[in-house]
Amino acid sequence: MSEALANLLNETRQFPPPAELAAAANVTADAYIEAQTDRLAFWERQAGRLTWAKQWDQVLDWSTPPFAKWFVGGQLNVAYNCLDRHVEAGRGDRVAIHWEGEPGDTRTITYADLHRMTCQAANALTDLGVVAGDRVAIYLPMIPEAAVAMLACARIGATHSVVFGGFSAESLTNRIQDASAKVVITADGGYRRGKPSALKPTVDDAVANCPSVEHVLVVRRTGEQVGWSERDHWWHETVEQASTEHAAQPFDAEHPLFILYTSGTTARPKGILHTTGGYLTQTSYTSHAVFDLKPESDVYWCTADIGWVTGHSYIVYGPLSNGVSQVMYEGTPDTPHKGRFWEIVDRYGVTILYTAPTLIRTMMKWGDEIPAEYSLSTLRLLGSVGEPINPEAWMWYRQHVGRGELPIVDTWWQTETGAMMISPLPGVTAAKPGSAMTPLPGVNADVVDDQGQSVPNGGGGYLVLREPWPSMLRTIWGDDNRFIETYWSRFGAGVSGNADDPWIYFAGDGAKKDDDGHLWLLGRVDDVMLVSGHNISTTEVESALVSHPSVAEAAVVGATDPTTGQAIVAFAIPRGSIDTAGEAGEQLIADLRNHVAKTLGPIAKPRQIMLVPELPKTRSGKIMRRLLRDVAENRSLGDVTTLQDSSVMDLIASGMSGGK
Ligand code: WT7
Repeated sequence: MSEALANLLNETRQFPPPAELAAAANVTADAYIEAQTDRLAFWERQAGRLTWAKQWDQVLDWSTPPFAKWFVGGQLNVAYNCLDRHVEAGRGDRVAIHWEGEPGDTRTITYADLHRMTCQAANALTDLGVVAGDRVAIYLPMIPEAAVAMLACARIGATHSVVFGGFSAESLTNRIQDASAKVVITADGGYRRGKPSALKPTVDDAVANCPSVEHVLVVRRTGEQVGWSERDHWWHETVEQASTEHAAQPFDAEHPLFILYTSGTTARPKGILHTTGGYLTQTSYTSHAVFDLKPESDVYWCTADIGWVTGHSYIVYGPLSNGVSQVMYEGTPDTPHKGRFWEIVDRYGVTILYTAPTLIRTMMKWGDEIPAEYSLSTLRLLGSVGEPINPEAWMWYRQHVGRGELPIVDTWWQTETGAMMISPLPGVTAAKPGSAMTPLPGVNADVVDDQGQSVPNGGGGYLVLREPWPSMLRTIWGDDNRFIETYWSRFGAGVSGNADDPWIYFAGDGAKKDDDGHLWLLGRVDDVMLVSGHNISTTEVESALVSHPSVAEAAVVGATDPTTGQAIVAFAIPRGSIDTAGEAGEQLIADLRNHVAKTLGPIAKPRQIMLVPELPKTRSGKIMRRLLRDVAENRSLGDVTTLQDSSVMDLIASGMSGGK
């Protein structure tokens, strides 16, 4: 065991659930035992939380791995489960969405409203010739119509492909072409950073190269002037004029529900395919279990965009299938001021907040005094997703957002897994800051070494999933071979060719088991550095840097080094009040190098630390380490088109101060 590993495992703080939450929790420790006793029976019971038109004949068909079929022969309608059944049960008046636009306009949409809107959209799409199995691309801002569009597709069995509104025309073209989408649903634009941000011109550019697209449906949001052609239709002239009656027809459990593109190691994004019954079973169950949703009283808020899988699973399908009320916010967290999120929490009485580490670190950078201006007293549970959360950020979240007492669920999962896989249960788990803790009931995750052998407690390696799960991706759209190669050909039967070996899913993440067997996610495997033969995670060093009182945020890359193979190069954003001019900066860099060496061991001491004003991030908030590696290795900068703000790289290249 490396010295660095030994040090990370020194994190001994542990926070048991508040007694009151534990006493009333939806799910108790029994769930682990039930799932261990009979995993398929466990998932079958969770499927039973949904309303099926036809019962399944078989829980899992794994006879042609790695292609799974769940709830074989069963039929259901996803939109019926998210809307109709709540309305039919007399809960139509409950608020489904408290929507807030960035300029401050608001809409209150009940389950009955959302049901009517979805029926109208289903009828309008049908009028445009969309039938079950067709693909519909959705390119919308965070407005209620985004959820309506998705649910309307689900209702008529069309497969949606949501493309995040920040993507370029070229990215949109590639995604539309890959899926041969027949219809695109968009808006004139949305509001971001205090001004209208147009979408329709991007769609016009994209669609010019997409012969499959017959119609473009356009929501009016900003009222800005847009170009118009024969294939364009206004939402308010079609959908809003359509009948509010629509009978949802059941679809097969394995009917394709959506495609969502995610970047891989090559330039071509992968169209991750999710299907109907298993996906809804697991998103619905995990919402219930991990967020402890109490639909009668909770107000839930997930700050993700609907363009990412988090928005699919934990804004649309998971929460709505449970019938909870939720907040949906259109804009950015610092428009018009840095307290906007906390203002929203207080205004709507948010009880459960689900956000990303990058946002938490940004809030840390903005200062403790901002959340301190708000009550935040309605919050009872906090969640994190998207990347490893550093122990310091975890503690800050608990302290400054969670009143020093709220449980935090750090949920590990991926676009590919469809739903949460590893997470504390808020009423059961005594969570450790920075650890996703244990696989959820019914999930079989493990950490293995290069040879695919399970590592003992205290060891590190690759995260794998040893058994199929209901919300697993079914394939990469149109590319079964890439599906097998990417996820199933690192360990197990996919490599050995031996049918007796199990099929093992390779997640692409590094992970460790601590002495108690709890899981620590370490970032993508390509983010693991090899320094003089020692395995050091970028996350580990980043956490060490962020634990220094002068550092707000940090990113670490492994740069090629003639002596050590890779060397650690760190980029650190100093906290606002810190003096970094001249000698003070040199001194800070020396202090930080020593601090890391002290925290993680001398092997983890960065070769170089650069103090920078910003870090380059993708639109989904992931630090673009590839670009930083280019800076660290003095290469010219590669493609920056998916950068949140490409001027950040100029800032870094020109404004950095650093040394060895
Ligand atoms: C990758 C998947 C899951 C929805 C958003 C991201 C990283 C995600 C965690 C977490 C450590 C995490 C992994 C994973 N990741 N959640 N709680 N702790 N790492 O979906 O874009 O498909 O990215 O995000 O590296 O492989 P995605």
